Order: sequence, then structure tokens, then C-alpha cells
Amino acid sequence: DRILTIEEVLCKFRLPREELEEVMSRMQREMDRGLRIETHEEASVKMLPTYVCSTPEGSEVGDFLALDLGGTNFRVMLVKVGADEDRSWKIETKNQMYSIPEDAMTGTAEMLFDYVAECMSDFLGKHQIKHKKLPLGFTFSFPVRHEDLDKGILLNWTKGFKASGAEGNNVVGLLRDAIKRRGEFEMDVVAMVNDTVATMISCYYEDRSCEVGMIVGTGCNACYMEEMRTVELVEGEEGRMCVNTEWGAFGDNGELEEFRLEYDRMVDTASTNPGQQLYEKLISGKYMGELVRLVLIKLVNENLLFNGEASEQLRSRGSFETRHVSQVESDSGDRKQIYNILSSLGVLPSELDCDIVRLVCEVISTRSSHMCAAGLAAVINRMRERRCLDTLHITVGIDGSVYKLHPKFQDRFHKVVRELTPHCEICFLQSEEGSGRGAALISAVASKMAACMH
Ligand code: BG6
Ligand code: GLC
Repeated sequence: DRILTIEEVLCKFRLPREELEEVMSRMQREMDRGLRIETHEEASVKMLPTYVCSTPEGSEVGDFLALDLGGTNFRVMLVKVGADEDRSWKIETKNQMYSIPEDAMTGTAEMLFDYVAECMSDFLGKHQIKHKKLPLGFTFSFPVRHEDLDKGILLNWTKGFKASGAEGNNVVGLLRDAIKRRGEFEMDVVAMVNDTVATMISCYYEDRSCEVGMIVGTGCNACYMEEMRTVELVEGEEGRMCVNTEWGAFGDNGELEEFRLEYDRMVDTASTNPGQQLYEKLISGKYMGELVRLVLIKLVNENLLFNGEASEQLRSRGSFETRHVSQVESDSGDRKQIYNILSSLGVLPSELDCDIVRLVCEVISTRSSHMCAAGLAAVINRMRERRCLDTLHITVGIDGSVYKLHPKFQDRFHKVVRELTPHCEICFLQSEEGSGRGAALISAVASKMAACMH
């Protein structure tokens, strides 16, 4: 009896195949609207041109600095790009992680970029390269409307960032200004890319079929190589250009209303960007733990869990973290891990309580992987249709804490993507240090192109 009512709460998270197909086809429709000039402005999925084009051969060799801003951590990296005899690329990295203080994330753009420049100064100092004017590739994981590879305005912050005075401004300009203000070192900023793009590029150097990049981490997004003639926002017909879909914003025009539950609405209302990134809020790590917590509280209030009593801690926002979801689902079956997490949050669970908590984590992380699979299937099916292929062979480069660290996410995700993409042979490639290497590699290519034009 008890289990049945719990089932009533949880079944709302399960998405049957037909519903996933519906999500997929609505996503495809929005992607199409995002690419077309007449509908671009109103489309929720912005399909932003990146100015990263298909296979420019050759690149500069040497040292590059790479910055990675917008995931869980801010990172500065030194990347050596070189060619060996068979012309494949050898890459070595030194890298350092810096955590972003709350006031840098939510103060002014100057404060945020001054902090970035401060970390760069620390890094350059440590490696004694402050005197070198290195070419720099900047991975900036937010929606940017590019005018060129090294120029683009931030459309809106996502994932809890809200530094004022950045939206609507050229992000590379903000970075260059901060470096100038610091006055200690010089940099030649040659490229700015989204993290999905950096991930795709880094995997492309291992596997030439990699034409899709995807992140399932704090945020969720994908990019892919689109036929140039279909990218209406940029002139030119030949070849392909990488498009940053910014699919996290799917649903912002109401396309997901019947799939959003009361918990999704609460998470959205409490966020820094209510009404925005609604698809991302169903999927990504920034929100997954909180969704679980809200469902647990619902069950407590219905007297279905913890004897109807939650601790103060469990009642406070953000206390159940996404990493806890992974930990609960990797419990071996003896419930020890689940018990420990719950008692660290101030509740003393029975065995049945532990099992219920596990079920809640499972339905929410499964919904996340299936929703995300519908998005990727939309992209891949579109690519096959556009290229008029009987079978599309494609590699997807992937990164992000949810994809990498959740024990079941990958399997569930891969399975549903494959079910939704008949006639496609998909290889999933996990990127290592993707953003640093990707940003450096595209900078190396850009430097070469710049050199040629002189
Ligand atoms: C990292 C990439 O490994 O994954 C970043 O280098 C990216 O560029 C990040 O933003 C995404 O994952 P998360 O979990 O840190 O948001
Ligand atoms: C958010 C950002 C997007 C980024 C993604 C993954 O959706 O808007 O640019 O790629 O998070 O980090």
C-alpha cells in the first residue's frame, strides 16, 4: 500500500518512448527555427555559429595558454602543441584549478575578470613564463553570439553566474581589459570557444569522425558540425561550421510544459534565472540533487518517508547534492552508503527509507539521462537526414561531472540514444582535459590562419 503511493509520486518522472520521441521532434523543430534568420530571434534553441569550421589543415606549434571558465572549476593550463613525424599532434599540459569565490561570480564583470587575471598571474608566475606573450585560447561555457572566433557577446549568464555588466558585452574584450588593468603580463587572445566546442575539437584530434560535442555537468549543452549553407546567420555555402545549440534553453517558449513537474517549477523559481534554461534544469548537475531533495520532502510531508519527519538540514535548500545522487546509486546493496549520507543530513533512516531514497534518485537521474538522450538523438538524426546518408557513422565527444561520475548515467543514456537513432552508428568518446586541449588546438589553428593572411 505504502509503496503504491510512493509509486504515484515517482511515476510522473518516467518518460515512455512516445514522449521521448515527442521531445526529440520538438527539439528538432526548435533547432530548425534557431538556424533560420526569420525565426532565430524567437527560437528558444539559439543555434549559435561558432566560427569553428571544418578541417583547416595544419596549425602552429608551440606553447599556448588555455583558460576554462564556466564548469565546476576555473582552470588555467599550459598546452604544448606539436607535430611529430606522422603529423599527428602531441600535447602536453600543465594545469591548475582555482575555485571561484561567490563574490566574483555574483559581483561585477570587472571583479570576475580581475579574478581571472589574478589566477593567470599566479599560474604564469609559478611556471616562470610571465615575460612570454603567449597565444591564448579561452573556453567560456555560456551562450555567446560570435562575430568571429575571437569576438562575441555574452547573451545571458546560466548556471548561477550573475556578474553584472557582462551580458551584452564582448567577452574577449572584458578579458583583455582585465589583463591590461593588471599590467603584469601580455596575452594574445586568439580564440574563444564554448566547452562543448572545445570538447569536440579535442576528441576530433583522436577520431576524425567526432563532429558532435556534448557536456552533461553543472550545465547541459551540445554542439555539432552543421552544413554551412544551413547556417543562415553566417554568409558562405561551402563546408561545415560548428553550431553551439545552447539546447539548455529548450522549453523556454513553453515546449516542455507538460513534462515539467511541481519540483521542476520550484527549482526554477528559486534559481538565478527563472523561466530560462528549462531543459537544462531537468537534466544537469546544478539542479539534480535539489530535485531529489524536493521529492524527499514531498514524501515526508505525505508521511511516506522518515516517519513523516525531516531534519532541518534536509529541509534547507541545496543540502542534498548531485554527488549524493551518484553515491546513493552506487550503494552496493547493503544500504551502508545511503545510510551514511542520510545520517550526515541529520535523519536516521530505516531500511525501507533507504530503499525509497534510492528509488527517488533513480527516477530523477534516469529522467535526466533520457531527456538528454532525446536531445542528442534530435541532433544526430538531423545530421543523417541533412547528409542524405543511409547510415551515419558519428563520434560524440563528451565531458562533464554527471556523465563521468554518475554510476549509471552513461549506460542509460547510450541505450536510449541508440534506440532513438536507427541507421546511425554512434561512438561515444570521453574527453580528457578536453577544454584545455581543445582551446589550445583551435588557437593553434587560428594562429596559423592569421599567419597565412599576413
Ligand atoms: C570539464 C571541461 O572537464 O567539464 C569544462 O574542461 C567543462 O570545460 C566541464 O565546462 C563540464 O563539467 P562540469 O561538471 O564541471 O560542469
Ligand atoms: C550551460 C551553458 C552552455 C554550456 C553548458 C555546459 O548550458 O549555457 O554554454 O555549454 O552549460 O557547461
